[in-house]
Formats: sequence, structure tokens, C-alpha cells
Amino acid sequence: MALKHFLDIDALDEKTLRAIIDLAATIKRKGRVPKSLGLRAGAVLAMIFEKPSTRTRVSFEVAMHQLGGQSVVLSPQDMQLGRGETLADTARALSRYVDAIMLRTGPHATLTELAANATVPVINGLTCQSHPCQVMADVMTFEELKGPIQGRTIAWIGDANNVATSWVHAAARFGCKLRIASPREFAPAPALLAWAKKEGADIKVGEDPLAAARGADCVVTDVWVSMGDGDEKKRIAAFRPFQVDGAVMAQAAKEAIFMHCLPAHRGDEVTADVIDGPQSAVWDEAENRLHVQKAILAWCLSPASLGSEGAGTKRKGAKRRLGSAKARGAKR
Ligand code: CP
Ligand code: NVA
Repeated sequence: MALKHFLDIDALDEKTLRAIIDLAATIKRKGRVPKSLGLRAGAVLAMIFEKPSTRTRVSFEVAMHQLGGQSVVLSPQDMQLGRGETLADTARALSRYVDAIMLRTGPHATLTELAANATVPVINGLTCQSHPCQVMADVMTFEELKGPIQGRTIAWIGDANNVATSWVHAAARFGCKLRIASPREFAPAPALLAWAKKEGADIKVGEDPLAAARGADCVVTDVWVSMGDGDEKKRIAAFRPFQVDGAVMAQAAKEAIFMHCLPAHRGDEVTADVIDGPQSAVWDEAENRLHVQKAILAWCLSPASLGSEGAGTKRKGAKRRLGSAKARGAKR
């Protein structure tokens, strides 16, 4: 049986991603996960935070609680990891106790190393490279407010950072158009754009926020200085012309929405009148982290299929763990 990691949107096929979004909408509507998924009561999620978090931490903790399980929150300074124990050994040990591991870290390689050595599913809770749980919540929010995202236009204004990368992945998998406006120095990596082109995604990159926003159904931005970014002064100066304000929103479609993963800096990447105004969907977006992460957890942990399961990676080293109820029960 394949181990179902949730590492990145580009690592999963369209059918799986669609099934997760649809399940999230069902969970939100019904207030519970369908019994048919056979989620085991008492499942435990370990969450390792190497960077701060408000939404990711609380929404995953609440999600596990409401699913009938629980979570353990860890930070490297409280773990032997902080005293030199290897990540691989940490992954192997944690896999003997818990049902899934969520990691928020800097280097993406840390996430993939954890996943390569864990024998339970691993979830990306943000790396410097990507933030797939966030963009799944964004897609859900868009569809809730504006209908199917396929063929619709999303404008990304500002830093082509981790959240933007997950949007590039989403454009390829969900078939939305993506218009990116960034200063040249902070534009998406050529390799990422080459991947998107190969996948047939409709993405245009430029340096004019007004042009990117023109006719868009949704305008999205994020902080100018992400966790771990240096050179704050230089970044702020470069991004100043990329603020999402009333003039940018006026270029978008009449009923366009505004999204931001939060935390936000009013007066920098977005003006208060936009983020606190009638087009802002940021609180629905924050709420939907909870619903979409329940669906992601259900996909990772359920022995039943939500849709296609072809995107999982092969389990290493085999016979133990998640495969049988007996092996899972032996954890406690
Ligand atoms: N959007 C988001 O991931 O928020 P936190 O950093 O608070 O988890
Ligand atoms: N791009 C931001 C997202 C925070 C949720 C960061 O990485 O800090």
C-alpha cells in the first residue's frame, strides 16, 4: 500500500486534489468526516514547528481533536533533534508512535528527508519553497465564493514566494489562469515556470501589478518579508510599488475577491481598505484551513480511497504500520 504524503500540490494528481477539495466542502457543510472513510478514532498527529505559526498550528490541532484524534506539538529545542539527533532517526522513532507527522521548516530538503525516512504520512506545513495546505484552502475559498476555479483568473501580486509557488502548482492541477506581478529580482524561478509550461498551465509573469490584476476574479498577495528572509529594507523598497490597494482592485473583475494567507501587514503589501473591505475573503480563507486540513488528514490516514490514490509514494521498508488495523492499534 502506498504511503500518502501531502508534500506538494504538484506531487498529486488532479483527481486526488479535486477529491480533497470536495471532501473539505462536505466536511464543512456536514460538520463531520463521512463514516465511509473509516478514520480510526484516536489517531495522533505529531507537528514539528521550526518556525512560528498561529493558523497552521491551531487549525491542525482543532482538526485532529474534531476528527476524534489528538496532536502533539514539538519544537526542535524541546527535542533531541535540537541536540544533534538526525532527522532520519527522528522520523523513524516518531513513526512508531504517531499516525502522521506535520512539519513546518525552512529548507524543503528537510521535509523530503523526513518523508523519505518516516513510515507514516508526512504533511508539509510550510517550507521556504511551498505552502500547499494554504493554497488548498485558497482554492476551496475561491470555489465557495466564486464557483469552479477552472478557467478563472487569479492575480498574484508581490513576492513569488512559497505561497506563490503552490499557486503555480495549483494553476497546473486545477486549470486556473495565473497572472503574476513581481519585481524581476523576486519573480518565480525559471525552473518552476518551465515545469508549469510543460504541464500546460496558463501563467503569465510581469512587473506591472495593474496589468496582472486586469479582469482577475481574485487578487492574492502575501508578506514582502517571509520567515527566514534577510535584507528586509531592500525587499520592502523593491515591493513598495506592488502594494494591493484600491487602484489594483479596481482593475480586477467587478465582483473579484481578495485573498491573503495571513499574517498581513496593513500599509505594506495591502492597504487596510482592501483587506478589511467588502471584497476581502481572508477570514473565510483562514477558516477553510481547518476544513481542508481535515480532508487532507482524511486522505492521508484513511484506508479508503477519496478518489485517485495513484499519487502516493511507495512505502519504504514495508510490512509494518498503517497497512493493517492491528499494526496501527499496536502503537498505543
Ligand atoms: N497562513 C499561515 O500559514 O499562517 P500561520 O503562519 O499563522 O500558520
Ligand atoms: N510567505 C509567508 C507565509 C506565512 C504563512 C512566510 O513564509 O513567512
